[in-house]
Amino acid sequence: MCGIVATIGPRPSAPLLLEALRQLEYRGYDSAGIATVSPRGLHCLRASGKLVNLSRKLEAATAAGVTGIGHTRWATHGSPEERNAHPQLDQSGQLAVVQNGIIENHRPLREQLEAEGVAFVSDTDTEVIPHLVARQIERLSSHVAPADLLLKAVQSTTDLLKGAYAIAVVWAARPGEVVAARWQAPLLVGLGEGEFFCASDTPAIATVARSAVSLEDGESVRLTPLGVELFDCDGNRIQRTPRRLEGGDQIADKRPYRHFMLKEIHEQGESTQRWLDRYLRGSRVELGLDPGLFEGLHGVEILACGTSRHAAMVGGHLLQQLAGIPTSVHYASEFRYAPPPLRPGILTIGVTQSGETADTLAAMAMEEERRLAADVTELAPRLLGITNRPESSLGRRLPQILDIAAGVEVGVAATKTFMGQLLAFYGLALDLAARRHARSTEEIQGFTDQLKGFPPLLQALIEQHDQCCASLAQDFLHTEDMIYLGRGINYPIALEGALKLKEISYIHAEGYPAGEMKHGPIALLDAKVPVLSIATPGPVFEKVLSNVQEAKARNVPLIGVAPECQDAQLFDVLLPIPVVNELLSPLLTVIPMQLLSYHIAASKGLDVDQPRNLAKSVTVE
Ligand code: F6R
Repeated sequence: MCGIVATIGPRPSAPLLLEALRQLEYRGYDSAGIATVSPRGLHCLRASGKLVNLSRKLEAATAAGVTGIGHTRWATHGSPEERNAHPQLDQSGQLAVVQNGIIENHRPLREQLEAEGVAFVSDTDTEVIPHLVARQIERLSSHVAPADLLLKAVQSTTDLLKGAYAIAVVWAARPGEVVAARWQAPLLVGLGEGEFFCASDTPAIATVARSAVSLEDGESVRLTPLGVELFDCDGNRIQRTPRRLEGGDQIADKRPYRHFMLKEIHEQGESTQRWLDRYLRGSRVELGLDPGLFEGLHGVEILACGTSRHAAMVGGHLLQQLAGIPTSVHYASEFRYAPPPLRPGILTIGVTQSGETADTLAAMAMEEERRLAADVTELAPRLLGITNRPESSLGRRLPQILDIAAGVEVGVAATKTFMGQLLAFYGLALDLAARRHARSTEEIQGFTDQLKGFPPLLQALIEQHDQCCASLAQDFLHTEDMIYLGRGINYPIALEGALKLKEISYIHAEGYPAGEMKHGPIALLDAKVPVLSIATPGPVFEKVLSNVQEAKARNVPLIGVAPECQDAQLFDVLLPIPVVNELLSPLLTVIPMQLLSYHIAASKGLDVDQPRNLAKSVTVE
């Protein structure tokens, strides 16, 4: 989490930094800050809370200079108050650092520096860095040319750091220079017209840079008004061809919607159409993946976190039921420390919309390493990434990527990327069902034909439920707990509904498989605990309705996400969905989940797009 930026060129830095940070605010919004350097010295300005606080402060302050760094924070070490905001400075106040990530060995480094007389002013792990760089400058100054001093000092400081980080550093003694480096945290360098940039993510530089280069682990970069120099982990100069930026990475405007989340929910018909255009050829699915991934396949394991894990659970259901492949779905954060024993012929899929989730990246890397270490052909790694950001760390790490092509998602709560992940799993399951002859050509064609009808179906459903959910939301303004029920392929959708409600409305919500209620959670039910149940026609339809009856007998307010039918009269409120093959129903049932959560949070006046304590890209463990 956190976003870092740096600029250097002919234009004043402060407004450029502020605009770049605005594009990165999705990464964290606990506090923000900038440091600019001019021949008159270093000017550092920080503010707790959202970026708007920093921008107000800037109106009344001076931040001169055409060189600068900036930061938007998601607090890890130290509460979100101003003294813990970045940039963090050295003791002279002349050297400033912004960091995204975690310095895992900050404690011993801090103790060592304190023993040497350094007085720390923050609780952050980052503050060790400016003090260390300052020490390295002192140490190196006798034998390193002044022009290389900052670069060498940063490079030798990174040798002392453990953890995952991307940093950018400026120093008052070198007003025309920024040095940046990365280890397991994203960092890219943007090349503009006589001006140069660094950023954690493309949207920050999309309007000002024409092309970009991504840094790899252990690499560093020096930006000056004359250009950009890249260095490998041994400090040797390296060359890398920049990729063109198309401008499409720019974060769009949310108008005419009140929030990005609502806009993104409404974009799902269009993003589904885009996905179908890209991956369906007539009634065949063509994902463009290496067929070697699927040869002699015995099983699939999927690693993901949060909403991506819910999409993976739907995917697991599809891979088993449609393609007949044994599939297990894991929390990436659990898998990396307690993986199952190695089995031959396993495809490992990492699912992450951002492509930057530290736990998912680490779990995928761990799986690759242990399979390579086994040095047995049958256990060789087969890795696939499903992401919305093919240019992300995941995208660059894995040779096989399935791009969900959902378009930029700004709202912290994932909506259209969830839909894109579901579509990726439909594609994968249908492709595998065909390759393994698990389903007949006619059956597969039946599914792809139905999928082609989904964009208008989704659009109509979104319009319809937007209105219903807006008025229904008024009944939930004082709700403190809510239960979501689903079964089979819709159980993950119940989990997703509960997660969406929790994260943006701060209402406690739990998702359960409907049949599990009687084994404990039913004790929670009373008239103050609404139950939302997903009931779609299929093998367990009647069972779900019986489970709902059990809840009704406890006098709870009942909301149904179900087709309009006789049985649906059971519900106090019905959020109707059209009847489709049950295996395709999650694409529809998730819509009322998203809209109800959105309208409850919006009616409570909450910050829907930037809920408290969260960030869009979770780059720390
Ligand atoms: C929920 C949400 C989070 C993410 C999770 C994984 O709306 O956005 O639960 O799904 O942090 O993020 P990615 O998909 O980027 O790996």
